[in-house]
Amino acid sequence: MNFNLALPVGTTLDRFIMRKEKDFPYATGELSQLLRDIALAAKIVNREINRAGLLDVTGGFGQQNVQGEEQQKLDVIANIRFIRALRNGGEVCAIISEEEEEIIQTGNKKGKYIVAIDPLDGSSNIDVNVSIGTIFSIYRRKSETGCDGTLEDCLQNGTHQVAAGYIIYGSSTMLVYTTGNGVNGFTYEPSLGEFFLSHPDIKTPATGTVYSCNEGGVNSFPEGVKQYLNYCKESGYSGRYIGSLVADFHRNLLKGGIYIYPSTAKAPNGKLRLMYECNALGFIVEQAGGKASDGSRRILDIEPTELHQRCPLVIGSAEMVDKVEAFMKSEV
Ligand code: AHG
Ligand code: MN
Ligand code: MN
Ligand code: MN
Repeated sequence: MNFNLALPVGTTLDRFIMRKEKDFPYATGELSQLLRDIALAAKIVNREINRAGLLDVTGGFGQQNVQGEEQQKLDVIANIRFIRALRNGGEVCAIISEEEEEIIQTGNKKGKYIVAIDPLDGSSNIDVNVSIGTIFSIYRRKSETGCDGTLEDCLQNGTHQVAAGYIIYGSSTMLVYTTGNGVNGFTYEPSLGEFFLSHPDIKTPATGTVYSCNEGGVNSFPEGVKQYLNYCKESGYSGRYIGSLVADFHRNLLKGGIYIYPSTAKAPNGKLRLMYECNALGFIVEQAGGKASDGSRRILDIEPTELHQRCPLVIGSAEMVDKVEAFMKSEV
C-alpha cells in the first residue's frame, strides 16, 4: 500500500485527507471528519488571533488555570472554540485540555476518539505579536461506545496516538500533522479559507546547529544538560528561543536543531505537559525521523498517571537528542 504517494503541492487539506483515507481500507471516515473539525476550529482561532489587537482579546482573563498560570483571553477563546468544534463534530467522546482541570465529556457517547489539546501554546507571546500555536493528540477510546469517555481512555501512552498535529499562527498559519505515515504541512490561504499542501512528507535533518533553551534556569539544570549546552557553545551553535514551543519546534523540525526544557528548581518535572505538548510533538518528530526523550526515556513510552503531568523534554534532530542523552548518562 503506497502510504506516501506524493500528492501535488497545492492539494487542499480536504482532498489530502480523503485521498489518504482511501489508503486505509477499513477507514470509516470518522478520523478524517475529526481532522476536518480541528482544521475548522483552527481557521476560527486564526481569525481571532489576527484581530486580537483590535478586538481587545489580548491580555489576562483574570483567573488562573489548573497549571497555576494567569489565563490569557485567547487561551480561553481558543479553548472554547476547539471544544465546541469537537463537540459539534460528534467524533470525540472526551477531551483533555490544558485549560480544563477535569476531563471534558462532549456528550458524544458514540464518539470513538479522545483528544488531548493545548488550545493556545505560547500564551506569553500573545500580546507581543510573536508566533503562537495549538497542539493536539488523538487517541482511540478503549472503553465501549455508548458511555462517557473514561480516565483510562484518556491516560494512554504516546505510542497509542492515532494522530497528532499542531497549528502555528505565524508569518503564515500552518497545520502540520501525522496519522503515523509521515508528516505533512499545510499552509492556510485566508482569502480562500483553505489549507493547501505546502510541505509534503517532512523529514527533519539528522543533526543541526541550533539549540532552543531558556537558560535563565541553568544554575538548577541537571549537570548533563549544562555540559551539553557548553558543548553547543564550544561548537559555535546558534541559540534560538522564541518562548513558544510550537514555533521553536517547527523551526527545528524544518531546519534541524534541538529544543530542551529540562527539570529546573522551579519545575522539578520540567514545565511542559506530557499529554498535550510532549506526546503530540514526540509522535510528529519521530515520524519525521527525529527523536523525543525526557533526557533518558523515549517520551512516547512514558506511562501517564495524571491528566496534566509534566515531564522534561529534549526533542529534535536525532543525533542531537542522542548527544544530550549521552551527557545525561555520563553524569550519573
Ligand atoms: P503554554 O503557553 O501553552 O502554557 O506553553 C508555554 C510553554 C511553551 O510554549 C514555551 O516553550 C515555554 O512554555 C516557555 O516557558 P518559559 O517562559 O519558562 O521559557
Ligand atoms: Mn503549551
Ligand atoms: Mn497553552
Ligand atoms: Mn499555559
